[in-house]
Amino acid sequence: MRVGYGAASTAGADGVAEHLDPSWLTGDPPWLALFAAWLAEAIAAQIPEPNAMVLGTVDADGIPATRTVLCKGATADGVEFYTGYDSAKGRALAANPVASVTFPWIALERQVHVRGRVVKVDPAETAAYWNHRPRGSQLSGRASQQSQPIGSRADLEAAAAAVADEFGGAEFGGEGSVRVPPPEHWGGYRLVPSRVEFWQGRADRLHNRVVAELIDGGWVVGRLQP
Ligand SMILES: Cc1cc2nc3c(=O)[nH]c(=O)nc-3n(C[C@H](O)[C@H](O)[C@H](O)COP(=O)(O)O)c2cc1C
Repeated sequence: MRVGYGAASTAGADGVAEHLDPSWLTGDPPWLALFAAWLAEAIAAQIPEPNAMVLGTVDADGIPATRTVLCKGATADGVEFYTGYDSAKGRALAANPVASVTFPWIALERQVHVRGRVVKVDPAETAAYWNHRPRGSQLSGRASQQSQPIGSRADLEAAAAAVADEFGGAEFGGEGSVRVPPPEHWGGYRLVPSRVEFWQGRADRLHNRVVAELIDGGWVVGRLQP
């Protein structure tokens, strides 16, 4: 699937109506409105997992790692995701509380790249998000010591079954079932952006890149060469 950009009523030389421009980065913070619009367009285009983002961290030894997580909120305060606090990424973030995320909207020929420091989401906000998760996800979340080795699939299923037993069964509303509370080792992180870059593919690889960067406490916007 390949999806064009915007209305093509006034298509330019390469057949597109409009060129991504630093002037699109307005508001406070200047990245938010364009990011929200592009995410909404990725959802509308029905690309798979439109809120998936590749999260880059650096561990205590300086070794980088990336993996995909789901964006569960983007506000002026930052970009949120939920994960295991004792996972490999959680340990890396404890050692180096900075990260990058990349939204690879390839079918739209778009990419957004965000960098900044990372803070834990308030436990009350984590609990509110947790409470909206399906019961099966809650049970799995409690059962998994994310990123730790386990001997077999059978061991994993046994761990999940033990947690289900502890909380009265996998089916909510079943006999004896009780609410599954969020585990201590699980919760949200918020990436607080200090730099957000938007990339839009164009003909002949003369692509558009615009960036909003926090410099000395103020946002500066500009264009980068492709
Ligand atoms: C589409 C997709 C979405 C994912 N979303 C999440 C997520 O929101 N949170 C999470 O902890 N892991 C998520 N994962 C799994 C992670 O990529 C990763 O395997 C896991 O978090 C362990 O990473 P770590 O060992 O580097 O900590 C997702 C994977 C895929 C492919």
